[in-house]
Amino acid sequence: NTFPSQPTKITSIKTLAESPGLTSIPATYTFTPDLHGQVTSAPEGSIPVIDYSLLISGTPGQRSEIVHELGRACQDWGFFMVINHGVPQKLLSSILDGCKGFFDLEEEEKQEFKGNHVLDPIRSGTSFNVSVEKAFYWRDFLKVFVHPVFYSPTKPAGLRNIRKFGAGRSYIDKALDLERGKQIFIANLYPTCPQPELAMGMPPHSDHGLLTLLIQNGIGGLQIQHKGKWVNVGTHSNSFLVNTGDHLEILSNGRYKSVLHRAMVNSKGTRISIAMAHGPSLDSVVSPAPELLASSKGDEPAAYIGMKYKDYLELQQSNKLDGKSCLDRVRISAV
Ligand code: SIN
Ligand code: FE2
Repeated sequence: NTFPSQPTKITSIKTLAESPGLTSIPATYTFTPDLHGQVTSAPEGSIPVIDYSLLISGTPGQRSEIVHELGRACQDWGFFMVINHGVPQKLLSSILDGCKGFFDLEEEEKQEFKGNHVLDPIRSGTSFNVSVEKAFYWRDFLKVFVHPVFYSPTKPAGLRNIRKFGAGRSYIDKALDLERGKQIFIANLYPTCPQPELAMGMPPHSDHGLLTLLIQNGIGGLQIQHKGKWVNVGTHSNSFLVNTGDHLEILSNGRYKSVLHRAMVNSKGTRISIAMAHGPSLDSVVSPAPELLASSKGDEPAAYIGMKYKDYLELQQSNKLDGKSCLDRVRISAV
């Protein structure tokens, strides 16, 4: 094993960050100083905003306008913000609190939920993908499969509210027949970092599923790639940030982009983000939609090969990618 191992006594970043007198971060958590690249702060409002209430109860004209905006957002940004979504703020706060409660558990208690495999239904840990990493990320996480079978850690009690989060069926769920889809609840904790310019919360990656919904605790850190630049996404209370994943890019034969994004850390306050990842069922093979290929003028060749979602997840977590993205592995390069 040529990779440095994580300090064995420190099991979470939270514990590390709370070590008395910590003013610098261990070398194993350090990335090169040019890591942050160009960062553009997106002018307010430049990420497309979708008013969900208009989609549900607007006039037919408003509805079709929003549907158009959605399509444009998925093509141009791969990210959009949903406002007036109807999920009570109180519920979202209680879920954020429940996750904080989990990360606040004693190390020994969290150990109980330490999974090793990407298909373990409950898995807590740190960094991003320790099996392939040379440096570790300033992040603790909890991942729970919540659909079609609902799992939940037995503690803390408040965490069971996540069922209500997933159960709020959206138009997107219905349109994509996600009735049988895999939903993964992912809570991320990014503790305050004494040297945020040297650390990284989550590496650049695209999401594997169809759509991801994200909420945050009022502290920003997410950056998305747009037109070759890293763009800061702020926090906007009472909204969901939604992004399209690899399998929507595949399904749409590349019309909708699965965009790279990453998480930065800061020295001011602990950030919590919660992602609800919506994917196809584990056994489904998503290929470019035949209707899309057939309906375009002339023959549009399929630009991706299909792969069983389960195999895609395992490949992404494995060390067989050689630095390539999983999406690159299923993309058929033009001849
Ligand atoms: C994610 O990409 O899954 C979460 C990024 C964030 O914490 O904002
Ligand atoms: Fe992500």
